[in-house]
Amino acid sequence: MKDHLIIFDTTLRDGEQSPGASMTKEEKVRIAKQLEKLRVDVIEAGFPAASQGDFESVQAVASVVKESIVCGLARAVENDIVRAGEAIKPANAGRIHTFIATSPIHMEKKLRMSPDQVVERAVWAVKRARDFTDDVEFSPEDAGRSELDFLCRVIEAAIDAGATTINIPDTVGYNVPNQFGSLFKALIERIPNSDKAIFSAHCHNDLGLAAANSLAAVRNGARQVECTLNGLGERAGNAALEEVVMAIKTRQDIFEVDTRINTQEILATSRLVSNITGFAVQPNKAIVGANAFAHESGIHQDGVLKHRETYEIMRAEDVGWSTNKMVMGKHSGRNAFKTRLEDLGVSFETEQELNDAFMRFKELADRKHEIYDEDLQSLVTDNNNQRVENDSYRLISLKVSMETGELSKAEVVLWVQGEELSAESTGAGVVDAVFKAIEFLVKSGTCLELYSVSNVTNGTDSLGETTVRLEKGGRIVNGMGSDTDIVLASAKAYVNALNKIVGERVKDHPQASV
Ligand code: KIV
Ligand code: ZN
Repeated sequence: MKDHLIIFDTTLRDGEQSPGASMTKEEKVRIAKQLEKLRVDVIEAGFPAASQGDFESVQAVASVVKESIVCGLARAVENDIVRAGEAIKPANAGRIHTFIATSPIHMEKKLRMSPDQVVERAVWAVKRARDFTDDVEFSPEDAGRSELDFLCRVIEAAIDAGATTINIPDTVGYNVPNQFGSLFKALIERIPNSDKAIFSAHCHNDLGLAAANSLAAVRNGARQVECTLNGLGERAGNAALEEVVMAIKTRQDIFEVDTRINTQEILATSRLVSNITGFAVQPNKAIVGANAFAHESGIHQDGVLKHRETYEIMRAEDVGWSTNKMVMGKHSGRNAFKTRLEDLGVSFETEQELNDAFMRFKELADRKHEIYDEDLQSLVTDNNNQRVENDSYRLISLKVSMETGELSKAEVVLWVQGEELSAESTGAGVVDAVFKAIEFLVKSGTCLELYSVSNVTNGTDSLGETTVRLEKGGRIVNGMGSDTDIVLASAKAYVNALNKIVGERVKDHPQASV
């Protein structure tokens, strides 16, 4: 009988801390529902004290999710703990995750607190969190660079105070697998009350070792892993859920644990997260990258055809790849459309929303004969297709022209805060001309940090998905757009990013000093 490994997903919290990955309440709820379908044990839905919006997002996730535990993050201070406690109140099962830094550098330079004060605060925070829920997780932040004796002391005290999960974060991604594994072994052996709590690993990927470190922790007694879809997260990201889960599933010969993840939902969840955040998945990304199961070389193809296991250690179908089949076309009806989207985890709040989406589907089917699941997902995720009440800008129409040896030209008509305005511009290419015309109308003063295009499926009639990353005054947002015409998709992505940069409020960062 294997031990259960708790999968704690923090895409909506640590993942959201990636510059530009911030999500609206509705987007978080959509991802949370899909995470529940994926059967993650715990969903860390956000940091409720960061802003009213974050509070409401965690509350909304806590209200809709029934099967997974919903967790809110809180620094070890009164306001954070109270906000987290209130936000998780609607949950069937709610957790508060409180933390304070324990490494010498963080205590001295960031917190300006003595080790004694840190222990005292940790104990206080865990006890205060227990006023709201019996499920309290404590993290000694930057544990990966903390002194072992001090870690043992603070963790023992936190468990005595009522912490039921002890999470060991390698906050800066400094550890290597042997060392991180040994840390778990030492903590579990040396802390007298370690059997009263579940030990958890939380790894960042600065050295590309986040999944390896998490697995080393599991081999040494960790029974919870904190991770994100596609490895989204601060800087180089967190341990990728799909990598950790599939390593455990594939190497049951060496792991004494198993998860309850429905691995066939991995790909759909990865795509949803990528569509919503604008963080594209690199083609060679393990498990969820477009090439993860593609065999380019003749020798490999030959081997796989003779006997799949010559070159494949996992089945593509097991992570959701085989659902990549043609599903719909021009003649598909509204009911079939609705049912297929429900299978993909998308439901509509009102009849009107369904009708609007179906109309967009019909328009797409007129231009593209074969419509795949990926097209449907992209169609419903594209924010530009939904009229968001408080959007400042909306693209009305676009005309472009180009000729070899000439500058490209664009004419843009934009709805700008209630007024219909138009502008013309030239550029090095049509996309450049379109962006210049839009910026002329909006005068955002933003800097274009990234522009990328990828095709959702194969073929030149595929939907193109574009990401535009804009920066202004240190704030970064990602905009997404999709269309069979990549120029239009690019304009939509640019307008989407502009709406985000004017609409978003600055939030507190949980790891900044209080
Ligand atoms: O990386 C980290 O230390 C964190 C903590 C808040 C757990 O994300
Ligand atoms: Zn983290």
